[in-house]
Amino acid sequence: MEKEQNNIYPIFDKMLTREDKEYLLKQRSVMVWFTGLSGSGKSTIAIALERELHKRGLLCRILDGDNIRSGINNNLGFSAEDRVENIRRIAEVSKLFIDSGIITIAAFISPNNALREMAASIIGKDNFLEIYVSTPIEECERRDVKGLYAKARRGEIKDFTGISAPFEAPAHPSLTLDTSILSLEESVNKLLELIIPKIQIS
Ligand code: ADX
Repeated sequence: MEKEQNNIYPIFDKMLTREDKEYLLKQRSVMVWFTGLSGSGKSTIAIALERELHKRGLLCRILDGDNIRSGINNNLGFSAEDRVENIRRIAEVSKLFIDSGIITIAAFISPNNALREMAASIIGKDNFLEIYVSTPIEECERRDVKGLYAKARRGEIKDFTGISAPFEAPAHPSLTLDTSILSLEESVNKLLELIIPKIQIS
């Protein structure tokens, strides 16, 4: 039996390019990849960042853990394998946005270096800004916005990141934001300083 993949003929070379889209939008695209524990502030910062960029006339797209896990990834759980598949699909989707010239903002725990490296290699390392939201676990657990830390402590959720599953901090993030020290505005300002020069078209 012939492999089904052999009958696939991608048309990438005939389509308009990322540069065509960037020229149309008058912006360069970039991947802003947040990593950090549940409750560290990734989504809150992502939402505030999107609003600030949007105000400046820049087109963005947020991809967020709970949204993606209730749609395209609703068949995945939190085993090590499912987390790989979760991030692989998110990276492939992000690449589509990046190739459309859109500033793409991802907020996923993405709990280890191998996962984040996989994402960076799918999307392209040059486009990839790794932002570590380093809020300490004590603070995330104190906030416990979704009540998940309490459930994990009671053993009602297995493989919970930071409690019963590992989190590996990035070795060389583009930026580190600790929301127990920085205000939301301060975090967003640091991000704008990093991002704006990279998305300006000459
Ligand atoms: S990731 O590890 O695969 O990158 P992702 O960011 O998609 O995780 O999803 C994390 C969100 O799922 C958390 O913010 C939390 O709301 C929820 N969640 C449910 N179960 C778990 C679990 N076992 N570990 C971590 N987060 C969980």
